[in-house]
Amino acid sequence: MEGEVSKAQTTARGQWTSNLGFVLAATGSAIGLGNLWKFPFITWDNRGGAFVLVYLICIIAVGLPIMMAEILIGRKTQKSAVGAMKEAFGPRWGLVGAIGVLAGFVILSYYAVIAGWSLYYFGKALGWSASGFPSGLRLGDEFTSFAARGGLQVILSGLFMAATMSVVWSGIKGGIERTARILLPILFGILVLLFLSALSMEGSSEALAFIFRPNFSSLGPDGILEALGHAFFTLSLGMGAMITYGSYVAKKQSIVKASGMIVLLDTLIALFATVIMFSVIFSVPGMEEQVGGSTVGMLFISLPELFYTTVPFGRVLAPAFYILVAFAALTSTISLLEVVAAYVIDEHGVERKKATLMTGGAIFLVTVMCAMSFGGWGAASNFELFEGKTGVFGTLDHLASNWLLPVGGFLITLATGWFMTREDSESELAAGGTPSWYKYGAWRFFIRYVAPVSVGAILVAVGFFGVDFS
Ligand code: TRP
Repeated sequence: MEGEVSKAQTTARGQWTSNLGFVLAATGSAIGLGNLWKFPFITWDNRGGAFVLVYLICIIAVGLPIMMAEILIGRKTQKSAVGAMKEAFGPRWGLVGAIGVLAGFVILSYYAVIAGWSLYYFGKALGWSASGFPSGLRLGDEFTSFAARGGLQVILSGLFMAATMSVVWSGIKGGIERTARILLPILFGILVLLFLSALSMEGSSEALAFIFRPNFSSLGPDGILEALGHAFFTLSLGMGAMITYGSYVAKKQSIVKASGMIVLLDTLIALFATVIMFSVIFSVPGMEEQVGGSTVGMLFISLPELFYTTVPFGRVLAPAFYILVAFAALTSTISLLEVVAAYVIDEHGVERKKATLMTGGAIFLVTVMCAMSFGGWGAASNFELFEGKTGVFGTLDHLASNWLLPVGGFLITLATGWFMTREDSESELAAGGTPSWYKYGAWRFFIRYVAPVSVGAILVAVGFFGVDFS
C-alpha cells in the first residue's frame, strides 16, 4: 500500500531516468553564462593566477559540500525548495526556500537579457561568416547602440524566455533532462574544437601562464570574496536549485558521485573557456589594453572581430561559439524557472503547464525592465538602489549575487550541518554506494565548520565593510 502511494507520487512529480540524466541536467544548470561570460572577466579583473587558485579552493571547500547538502535535502524530502526546507528542518526554515525562489525569480529576469544577446550575436556571426566581416566595424559602438534598442532587447529576451518555458512546460524527463542530453554533448564538442584552435595560437602559452601561475601580490581581500561569491553562482548554489533538482533523484543513486561529477565538469568548462578567450586576446598585440577597458563586453565586443582575423577556422567557430553560449544559458535558465515553477506546483497544487505560464509570465515582466535598462528606457536605465549599480539590470545582479545567494547558502549550511541529525545525512549520502566513514566525516567537518565560516565571512565583509564582489 505504502509502496503504491509513493510510486504514484513519484510518477506525478517526475524523476530523472538515470544517474547520467541527473548529472547532465544539473551540470547544465551549473554551466552557463557564469562560466563563459562572468568567470573569464573576473579572472581578468583580478589578474589571473592567484584568483584562480583561490576560486578552486572555494569550489572544493565550500561549493562541493554545499552541492551535496542541497541535493541530499531535496532527495530526502522529495520536495522543491520551500517544501523541502520546511519538511527537513521545520516550518520556519521555509523562509530559506522562499529566499531561494525569490533569487531564482530575480536572477532569471536579468540572465535572460544576456542570453538574448548570445542569440543576436549568433545571427550576426552567421551573417559575417557568410558574407565576410566588414573591415573598420567598431564593435564597441555597435554593441552600445544594440543594447540601447529597447524593443529589440525585449524581443530577444522574450524569445529566450519562451524557449525556457517550453522546456519546463514539458516536465522533468521529457523537458529538462531531454534538453540537457541533447545540448550538453554539442556544447562539449564545440568547446573542445575551440580549445584546440586556441591552443594552436601563439598567445596560448601566455594565456596559460596568466591563468595558472599564481601571483599573490595582485590579489586583494575583495578578490578572495569575489571568488567565493562566484563559486556559488557558477555551481547554482544557495537558492535551492539543487534542492529542487535533487528532489527528482531516485533513492538508489549516489549523491556523492553525482556531486563530484557536476563540480568537476563545471570547473573544467570554466577553465577551458578562460584559456580559449585569453589565448585569443594574448595573440593580438595591443588587445590586452583594449580589453582592460571593457572586461564585461569581452564576449560581445572584443571577441567577434578576433574570430575573423585571428582564430584558426574562425569563420566556422564564430557562429558555433555563440550558439554554444546560448545553449549553455538555456540549460541554466531552465533550472532557474524550474525552482520557481516547482514551488508553485508543490506548494500551491497548480498543474505544471499552468504553473510554467504563470511564473514565466511574471518573470518576463521584470525581464522587460532589465532589457530596457541599457538605455532603452530612461527610468529603467537610471534606477539606482545600491550606490554605483545603476539600472534595473545592475541592481538585480547585485542583489542576487551579493545578498540572496550567500545568505541562502549560509543558512543551508547551518541547517544541514547543525539541524539535521548525523543519521539522516549519513543515510542519504550512503545510498547508492556507502561512503567510507572518513569521507562522510570530511563532508560533515566542511559543512559544519569550513563552509559556514567562509560564507559568513563574505556576509560580514559585504555587510559591514561594504566590499563589493559582484
Ligand atoms: N550556474 C549558472 C551559471 O553559471 C547560473 C545559474 C543557474 C544559477 N541556476 C542558478 C545561479 C541557481 C545561482 C543559482 O551561469
